Amino acid sequence: MSELRLASEKRLRIFTGRAFPELAESVAQELGIPITPTSSYDFANGEIFVRFEESVRGSDAFVIQSHANPVNKHIMEQLIMVDALKRASAKRITVVAPFYGYARQDKKHRGREPITARLMADLFKTAGADRLMVVDLHTSQIQGFFNGPVDHLFALPLLANYVGSKVDRSRLTIVSPDSGRVRVAERWSDLLGGTPIAFIHKTRDPRIPNESVTGRVVGDVEGQTCVVIDDMIDTAGTITKAVDALFNAGAKDVIVAATHAVLSGPAIERLKNSRVSEVVVTDTLPIPEDYLFDRLTVLSIAPLLARVIREVFEDGSVTSLFDGMS
Ligand code: R5P
Repeated sequence: MSELRLASEKRLRIFTGRAFPELAESVAQELGIPITPTSSYDFANGEIFVRFEESVRGSDAFVIQSHANPVNKHIMEQLIMVDALKRASAKRITVVAPFYGYARQDKKHRGREPITARLMADLFKTAGADRLMVVDLHTSQIQGFFNGPVDHLFALPLLANYVGSKVDRSRLTIVSPDSGRVRVAERWSDLLGGTPIAFIHKTRDPRIPNESVTGRVVGDVEGQTCVVIDDMIDTAGTITKAVDALFNAGAKDVIVAATHAVLSGPAIERLKNSRVSEVVVTDTLPIPEDYLFDRLTVLSIAPLLARVIREVFEDGSVTSLFDGMS
């Protein structure tokens, strides 16, 4: 390794907030570097204090924080870390948000609503972020909200390769739980050799959060093993209603694959009580030990994050890792 390269290696630094330090630790291990020690604590009134324990001057800083529950606290902590890095002369600051909070509020569904996904991007920019790195945004166009480069990573190859290795592809149908995700279902289909796709006609009352009304299955799923794909499982209402609709339409078996295991409120009970044979998610968010159950499979996103961080640091190509997906 040349001296020049060694000098640049020294500048790559990984930082983690308190949302999910285990994920950052796995990423750091993949990269073969330690996490830069940081003190973070809350004052009595809930305000957050952050200080880095080493000089960060000149560093290429990657601040890993998934916007896990409590979402607002973890976002604020990441903003504060970015501010501290900027003021301590980090050379470049990348906000790594494996799960980007508020992504579902990406447009005004009705009058007098915010576009909080945009506000988030503005906040990170104002704090001093030079770039964003995120996994499976709720909608791709959120990338345009941030005034700077966005590395949009996809868990699809990870999830699809796992599912593809477990099922008989000749009897497989990829199912989008709503019409908006059909394009993603097509990508799954391409990756698994051209399997048929179907979708659930879902309607939602925008006045009631986390509540959807599942309609009919569009497509023939009779006798098929169905893989329902989604960006996230929050309360699991969407996904379990889709599972029911598919069995009612004659599916032989149903697997669920989703990137972000938000798993709020009744999610685990709903999944346990559902007829789904396997729920496959990634660890973009922490999953408490007591949430784990035998039909839940958690795939690690850390190797992908580490690979992309390495590419960004070395001015390599991130696009080439995803074969033109956007
Ligand atoms: C909706 O458009 C999203 O892609 C997810 O389907 C939804 O947010 C999941 O939420 P829940 O699990 O609460 O139904």
